[in-house]
Amino acid sequence: ELQRTLALIKPDVAGTKGDEIMERILKTNFTIVEFKKFQMTLEQAQEFYVDHVGKPFYTDLTEWMASAPIYALVLEKEDAIQAWRETMGPTNAIKAREVAPDTLRAIYGTDGSKNALHGSDSPFNAAREITLLFGEGFAAPARAFS
Ligand code: CMP
Repeated sequence: ELQRTLALIKPDVAGTKGDEIMERILKTNFTIVEFKKFQMTLEQAQEFYVDHVGKPFYTDLTEWMASAPIYALVLEKEDAIQAWRETMGPTNAIKAREVAPDTLRAIYGTDGSKNALHGSDSPFNAAREITLLFGEGFAAPARAFS
């Protein structure tokens, strides 16, 4: 199924390695449908990570995500959600370096919180995250006529 997913290049790397990571993404088979560099408001970060409300890292995570500019990308590909998660590697960059050293988090991430990249974890969250950051009308692939 042709899907879209939401990717973020996070504050730990956006300022120093953002363009280099963008170059790498451009060399993959994902189509970059939308792209912007911006700084989240705290309110946006809190809404973006609503699934993590109540977890011990929620406050640090949301304040950090709103602390500096990030890159946000809408990526399109067959099974994009799973494919982008595989491209990123495991959430924890330390684990990524052990089990998947050629993934983006293994290369660019630091640990389990400063992990360089985000990817949507489900079709529901992909649509929710894309709509939150880009507005209505960007979440679904364009329909092909035949
Ligand atoms: P992300 O894929 O953006 O989804 C939730 C984020 O929370 C995750 O990447 C990490 O940045 C962060 N995170 C997840 N688990 C932990 C944890 N155990 N401790 C600290 N931060 C975490």
